Amino acid sequence: MADPVDRRLWGDRSGAETAQGSAEVAPDASDEAREGLRRAMRRAPSPVSVVTASDGRGEIRGITIGSFTSASLSPPLLSFNISRDAGIYDLLARADRFALHVLHEGQAHLSDRFATPDMPGVEQFRGVDYRVDAQGLPLLADALATFLCARHAAYDAGDHSILLGRVTDIREAAAGKRPLVYFDRSYRRVGKAAQPASFDPARP
Ligand SMILES: Cc1cc2nc3c(=O)[nH]c(=O)nc-3n(C[C@H](O)[C@H](O)[C@H](O)COP(=O)(O)O)c2cc1C
Repeated sequence: MADPVDRRLWGDRSGAETAQGSAEVAPDASDEAREGLRRAMRRAPSPVSVVTASDGRGEIRGITIGSFTSASLSPPLLSFNISRDAGIYDLLARADRFALHVLHEGQAHLSDRFATPDMPGVEQFRGVDYRVDAQGLPLLADALATFLCARHAAYDAGDHSILLGRVTDIREAAAGKRPLVYFDRSYRRVGKAAQPASFDPARP
């Protein structure tokens, strides 16, 4: 079994980074299998967020992420998957911290901006409302929720890496704003509440 910890990304800095996983390295998928996975994944909605990072010396970058989820409450960990081809990949490899911003339904333009391929970091942030914190990390204004994270671990996952961040601070927008969702290749709003049907006792 391959060591799933991506040492290229995280080095050997803490115990958490040397944790072992159990995923086998899958053989390369055919075009057909890839398309099948893509097609089926269109049925699963995802929250839209933007991850930002900096090298602390003025280089800043962001990326639109749909794979964000909460991974652990204690310690507080979140995770997302990042393509090895992503422009921010090497910056995340060097950065000790990153920020994950959950977008609201009025921020689809930010998702588009940070998903535009091959855009230099300075251009990504042109016209965007943000500030940099004391360590140079860019923080987007007005996100639904912002999670400041210290890097915790990374795991190989085929052509992506699974990144885990330890949440060090959380900022939330005032109540009332709703999340931006990506579903079936387009941006959506969260709809009405669904009521669970009752089970039919006559059926096994
Ligand atoms: C809604 C949405 C969700 C996305 N989710 C991810 C993701 O979870 N991981 C990832 O690596 N790329 C994801 N992408 C793609 C990247 O945002 C995009 O390919 C990348 O930023 C292109 O810019 P680059 O050339 O700087 O890498 C997503 C794009 C969109 C529009």
